[in-house]
Amino acid sequence: MSDLKNIALEIIGNGKGILAADESTSTMTKRLDDVNVKSTPENRLLFRETLFRSSSMSDCIGGVILYDETIKQISSDKKKVPELISSFGSHPGIKVDTGAKILAGSPDEKITEGLDGLRDRLKEYYNLGAKFTKWRGVYSITKTYPSKLCIYSNAHALARYSALVQECNMVPIVEPEVLMDGEHSAKECFEKTSEVIKKCFDELILHKVDLEGIILKPNMILAGNKSKDQISNEEVAKLTLECLKKSVPTEVPGIAFLSGGQSELQSTENLNLINKLNTTNFIMSYSYGRALQQSALKFWSKNIQDSKGTQKVFNHRAKMNTLAAQGKWSKNLEN
Ligand code: 13P
Repeated sequence: MSDLKNIALEIIGNGKGILAADESTSTMTKRLDDVNVKSTPENRLLFRETLFRSSSMSDCIGGVILYDETIKQISSDKKKVPELISSFGSHPGIKVDTGAKILAGSPDEKITEGLDGLRDRLKEYYNLGAKFTKWRGVYSITKTYPSKLCIYSNAHALARYSALVQECNMVPIVEPEVLMDGEHSAKECFEKTSEVIKKCFDELILHKVDLEGIILKPNMILAGNKSKDQISNEEVAKLTLECLKKSVPTEVPGIAFLSGGQSELQSTENLNLINKLNTTNFIMSYSYGRALQQSALKFWSKNIQDSKGTQKVFNHRAKMNTLAAQGKWSKNLEN
């Protein structure tokens, strides 16, 4: 087995999943503002370090995606943050895109930037201990979007990014996120997500990316959050599986869903159903940001010194999602 495939399986195999703790400073500031905590580098590290020292880091979390600020920070016991994460048996990863910017030619849509100088930044992150990376392309659904231009240009960027990451011996997470904001139906989400993912793989193949050494991070198939036609969790699971089955080449070892604004419970419940119904060989796991951290952040904001209490809340969510990644979760385990 290739080294990259091996790392991918260590990150999301055996029910393990990914903690996406790579919020940019401005996003993290919004999250901290919401719970009335001042957004300083020290507070951002304190919250994150509390999570990174949780027991679920060994049992449930195979990888942690970091932001540039965090990967360079030093923990309270003077360890480099990536070393701290590795010491718990989890893999450190890093977000390497520099954000979604207005797409010239279709100014209501976004293109993710960050390719210039990426090879040198990757070497730096690799030397800091990163084993995998993330790049997120983002697509909105309206009557006219996502446009072909948006689908093509983001796929091209994701492929160029992935090729550079593998050249530097790290596993690229390929994240094309079709947003749930809007009035669109689940059918439209299914069609657009299928088109987006297929185009990504066309480009990955063109750029000679080793498909065994990537992790796909897609959205689940949902009706838009303003749609009147919401579908059941079972339908979400079925449509998500159908979409991935027809759009993802079989060489890909695994898929780790983003939560994308679903509640903690909904993210867990849908992942569980996906695994119960999964007849493919793909691992179906999680790479959640909000759906892993929301309750822990709320608790922590009121009890900043109570790391054990915060860890208990986080461990519970991680455990629930790890069970869901094996189709072994049930609602009564939540209490
Ligand atoms: P959410 O699970 O909060 O959508 O975050 C995942 C992520 O990494 C988005 O890029």
